[in-house]
Amino acid sequence: MKRTELPAEGLAPDKVVHAMGKIRADDAPWYGPRRFIGGSYYGGEEVQQVADRASQDYQHYNALYAGKVFPSLVRYEREVVDILLSLLQAPQTASGCVTSGGTESLLLAVKTARDWAAAERRGAQSPEATPEIVVPYAAHPGFDKAAHLLGMRSIRVPEGPGYRADVGAIAQAITSNTVMLAASAPSYPYGVTDPIDELAELARTQQLWLHVDACHGGFVLPFARKLGHAVPAFDFAIPGVTSISVDVHKLGYANKGVSALLLRDHELSEFQHYGFTNWPAGAYRTAAVSGSRSAGGLASAWAVMQFLGEAGYCEIVENIIATREKLVTGIGRIADLQVRGKPDGYLVAFGSDDYDSHAVADGMEDRDWVFNRLRNPPSLHLFLDRSHSDSVDVFLADLHQVMEEVRSGRRQARAVDAVYAV
Ligand SMILES: Cc1ncc(COP(=O)(O)O)c(C=O)c1O
Repeated sequence: MKRTELPAEGLAPDKVVHAMGKIRADDAPWYGPRRFIGGSYYGGEEVQQVADRASQDYQHYNALYAGKVFPSLVRYEREVVDILLSLLQAPQTASGCVTSGGTESLLLAVKTARDWAAAERRGAQSPEATPEIVVPYAAHPGFDKAAHLLGMRSIRVPEGPGYRADVGAIAQAITSNTVMLAASAPSYPYGVTDPIDELAELARTQQLWLHVDACHGGFVLPFARKLGHAVPAFDFAIPGVTSISVDVHKLGYANKGVSALLLRDHELSEFQHYGFTNWPAGAYRTAAVSGSRSAGGLASAWAVMQFLGEAGYCEIVENIIATREKLVTGIGRIADLQVRGKPDGYLVAFGSDDYDSHAVADGMEDRDWVFNRLRNPPSLHLFLDRSHSDSVDVFLADLHQVMEEVRSGRRQARAVDAVYAV
């Protein structure tokens, strides 16, 4: 295939825009009433405008130099982190930093736990032993990727009842090399929160680090709790929770590139930071992985938090929970379909124990619904946001029809497997 080359002469700006318009013609819209696949999150037109304006103003600011020349960025980061610590009931000793996304937050959590364990002589018995993390089956692959990159081993443990982490099985998987236990609030596949209070007790008695991945729940569960909904305990109010990650670029509605890693005790950050001085240009010290990076996402995070305030987030969360309850109740009324567990946030997985769930998924896709699938158990997987409150009734009506097709044998599954991201 011919390699693309730089054009000999540059194009006029309008020609560039035109060319890009043609190239992106096949891209799917990033949100919409029939699209349930997340990745990008819709908080409403005004939220989008506020985020985009802030992002644009700071697009060319390099956040690497925040401490040197951009005091505004230092303030935005401090205030974003402070707000998250308050939402997650952190003690006064806690601190945190902004990262580029959930994967980077998990990487840093695992690295911090590894180095803390090495310094404290917990976990790995000898310098040759490989430090391990114990990860529930439904947790995000970011934990395993982190272990892989950091020369560690991740041990996946099958889930327990209700698609939650199985605390007994996790206890059994702990060895003398274990440094960290992982938990989700909630997990991506089923949208259910692990028994974090029990895991925290286990971690505390075994002197292990417990990381809670609240990448999805961090901006939903605290507001759901304020609104009086039943929310499982998941945050720093539980003494054994050592660190929490929250993705501001998910239900915080910041533009892409903003997550946070929060530590119960600021002193633990010494195991997270990287410092170097042995070169001509002076001290280099960073909390996260990237060097140069745009400050646009961080600025958008601060701006959206100011714009929405507690009342704005509560309104969105109330709307999403109402949509979820309608969906879960509606699915429960269709024979032969089961919701996987009891979802706590805005992720819902369901399928059929008696019929082929992939056939159901095919039927819904043929009716122009866009969603993800799970491989195990075969299920349809939906992200809910603000744009879905009006589409659930139509979705349920279509689902009802598709189930009739599947039950009658008129619809067989095409060979489609679940793909999370490639
Ligand atoms: C539960 C969970 N944790 C972590 C991540 C990783 O987040 P990111 O894609 O921002 O790196 C995801 C991604 O969706 C996730 O679902």
